[in-house]
Amino acid sequence: MERKIIAITRGDGVGPEVVNEGLKILKIIAEFTDFSFEFRDAPAGGEVYKKYGNNLPDKSFDIIKGADALLFGAVGLPDLAPGVAETAILRIRQELDLYINLRPVKLYEPLRDRCPLKDEFIGDGIDITFVRENTEGLYANIGDITEDRAENLMVYTRKGCERIIRYAYEFAKKMGHSKVTSVDKANILKPSQLWRKIFHEIGENYPNLQKEDFYIDSYCQWLIRAPYKFQTVVTGNMFGDIISDEGAFLIGSLGMASSGNISPGKVSMYEPIHGSAPDISGKGIANPIGAILSVKLMKQESFQSSDIAKEIELSVEETLEEGRTIDLKNPEIETLTTKEMGNLIAEKLKLRLKR
Ligand code: NAD
Ligand code: IPM
Ligand code: MN
Repeated sequence: MERKIIAITRGDGVGPEVVNEGLKILKIIAEFTDFSFEFRDAPAGGEVYKKYGNNLPDKSFDIIKGADALLFGAVGLPDLAPGVAETAILRIRQELDLYINLRPVKLYEPLRDRCPLKDEFIGDGIDITFVRENTEGLYANIGDITEDRAENLMVYTRKGCERIIRYAYEFAKKMGHSKVTSVDKANILKPSQLWRKIFHEIGENYPNLQKEDFYIDSYCQWLIRAPYKFQTVVTGNMFGDIISDEGAFLIGSLGMASSGNISPGKVSMYEPIHGSAPDISGKGIANPIGAILSVKLMKQESFQSSDIAKEIELSVEETLEEGRTIDLKNPEIETLTTKEMGNLIAEKLKLRLKR
């Protein structure tokens, strides 16, 4: 029996709605496999800030630090100033040194009808993993703001570049990819020049992998022009934030995209890449798949359980033929609420794990 402690941060807006569905999946895993879980609530975000004046109270952070993994919903409230809730995420990433942000973007066959691209641009399909640097760059929190001037410093260190780039090459090798793509802005930005140099230095250790560089502006058009070309894509913090939302729309909805904020061998955080979605929160219509696939990533990356991860993914794919939340609307397929979607996926998983 493998016992794991999982910290749960529901957060704001649709965060709690989608985390509840992720929890259903973990409960099914506990019922039908050798895993058992202890869930510990670690409240954070805007609602918590309003109560305690702190978006990540010490008690919550201690629970997170003492867990094997963290399942995180989303934070942010429209009636708070930008950043007041969101910095909780950055503190977790910085203080736990979660330097890898793994963001897979895969177009499931049943969702071809929801991909905004014509068939000729989809080609053989879309299956990209963005490897986003998660602790440096513009997110290093070095900056200042006055009434007349505001600045953030974009800092990349050799150590910071080396570890994320090495991880990306290793990831590509593990996945059997033939190529690693690096996205930067080396024609203008000094940190990108260091990044690009290190990308090629480290690449020398991987003679069997092709290497390619793009400038971020050009990459944004290639991502919609020929997404089938890309496999592992490594990039800095700010560019990774932006292109992962672009990628998410290619697979049908922002609600489909999952992520792992990872420090290998240490407590890591798994979360959908979307935010608290105030425009739809409280209605019970949010797509829970980003959160459910984040549980899949947790099994795969933190608990070395690729078999169960695969079963979760297959359950999601199967369900998309039968029912969908409204963001993935298809008139021939039943429209489901968040809970119904989660229940259906959980049912499929149950059947698969029982076999
Ligand atoms: P958002 O990701 O919350 O929403 C963007 C659009 O996508 C909205 O139209 C929303 O309805 C839709 N969407 C998002 N998740 C969905 C889901 N699961 N199912 C269906 N549709 C979904 O981005 P935003 O509106 O720019 O930001 C709202 C708040 O969330 C802000 O406070 C922002 O800072 C915060 N934010 C938090 C995170 C996080 O917690 N990881 C990430 C991004 C944004
Ligand atoms: C994300 C979010 C966060 C980021 C914000 C909310 C801090 O947009 O996880 O993609 O910018 O990294
Ligand atoms: Mn983002």
